[in-house]
Amino acid sequence: TDYPRGFKNGFLWGGATAASQIEGAWNIDGKKLSGAECIRGAKEGETHSTLDEATRQSIEEAVNSDSDRDYPKRHGNDFYHRYPEDIKFLAEMGFKAFRISIAWSRIFPNGDELTPNEKGLAFYDRVFDEMHKYGIEPVVTLSHYEMPVGLTLKYNGWASREAITDFTRYTATVFKRYKGKVKYWMTFNEINTGTTGFHATGALEDGLKTTNEKLQLRYQALHHQFIASALATKQLHEIIPGAKMGCMLARMQTYPATCNPADVIMAQKVDQLNLFFTDVQVRGEYPEYMNRYFGEHHIVIKMLAGDQELLKKYPVDYLSLSYYMSSATAAKASHDATAEASGNQYAVKNKYLKQTPWGWQIDPQGLRVALNTLWDRYRVPLFVVENGMGTYDKFSDDGKIHDSYRVDYLRAHIEQMKEAVKDGVDLMGYLTWAPIDLVSFSTSQMSKRYGFVYVDLDDNGQGTLKRTPKDSFYWYKKVIATNGEDL
Ligand code: BG6
Repeated sequence: TDYPRGFKNGFLWGGATAASQIEGAWNIDGKKLSGAECIRGAKEGETHSTLDEATRQSIEEAVNSDSDRDYPKRHGNDFYHRYPEDIKFLAEMGFKAFRISIAWSRIFPNGDELTPNEKGLAFYDRVFDEMHKYGIEPVVTLSHYEMPVGLTLKYNGWASREAITDFTRYTATVFKRYKGKVKYWMTFNEINTGTTGFHATGALEDGLKTTNEKLQLRYQALHHQFIASALATKQLHEIIPGAKMGCMLARMQTYPATCNPADVIMAQKVDQLNLFFTDVQVRGEYPEYMNRYFGEHHIVIKMLAGDQELLKKYPVDYLSLSYYMSSATAAKASHDATAEASGNQYAVKNKYLKQTPWGWQIDPQGLRVALNTLWDRYRVPLFVVENGMGTYDKFSDDGKIHDSYRVDYLRAHIEQMKEAVKDGVDLMGYLTWAPIDLVSFSTSQMSKRYGFVYVDLDDNGQGTLKRTPKDSFYWYKKVIATNGEDL
């Protein structure tokens, strides 16, 4: 019997980024602040996430500060001004697709305006035109942790149902504007991380004391995002026939720590909390196992009449995922470093795996497991829209960066992806995070580098911003040219 031996023709090879991590120009051409631009970074050498360190006081302080040193996502890597040079690098590698996000606060600076900011819209026109010049297909995230902070201060972000109206005004605006330019869209980046707080919900939690109270707010905010996604999918299909909408899951592949059935049960529960999001967005309904979880945590989701029908009627066209690491789950909470890195409080170190300096456990085979699991469960096309290794890079004496560790990481993941394709998984493409060094999301550091192209900028915002291709640049070019045959 025949089966696929490699990646299909038209496979979308490329890379992925997000506005708040690359653009800079946070207060230029009418833009106002997003939540991401109000979070301070970790110090050099620290590995802990600063993502959800937001209180009303810290946000108000940030809004009154004009420092892009304290808030590194305000300077990014200067893509706003250097996009022609950067896209040229991508074209040289042979990119077929490039994922960016639109900064909502560039289009609707405060979030609640009734007319869009023309200068913001014009910027993305220029970026999409530049991509098309080289035959690069744009893949666009509508919300990559970038809610206008004005909406946090106005009605506490996604905790309020009002956010749906403001969001869908923004999505209709960009669908109409970029109708002839963008075919692949996705709504909320790593929507599942909304269970951890502010960075994804745009909602402050001052005054909430217990975990259950916080979970109540976060799952309600996520319900609003589900409805907003369904409505955006409906709009997209009406405005741009043939365009595709995806959901985006941070796939946290997990294994039972041992074959002790207690560990197996806990691993299954942890996994359900991850798959819950795709169950809603692909299958179009809340799964039964969440009733028990909500009941045990005293969570009541407030739904309006018609919500369930909307979810059922407008599921996504494809499922996109990020994949960086796996974890091993034990029956008891561990609270160790592995737990922090994976966001799974039951995670323990997997002795079979190595890890990055940030404690992310490297597991290429886990990607094959993840792809098979998602394909078996959903039967919709899958798209790997983030995968990569964030680590330190150093120039050698010859003035080059020999990042063989990055090539090893990516090669091993592509090999396993190919195994998944042979297993029968329908895979649309592969985008690495991130082709050009950028500001890390979880720690806002520059020193946690992912790129094929080095950017001269340090954790204090100092540097010339000069771009230099690393060894991995030439390797990835060959991978794309051979459609993943020559690794
Ligand atoms: C994903 C995000 O979580 O992982 C990206 O979608 C992020 O925004 C990427 O940059 C890598 O994480 P980090 O924290 O190393 O930048």
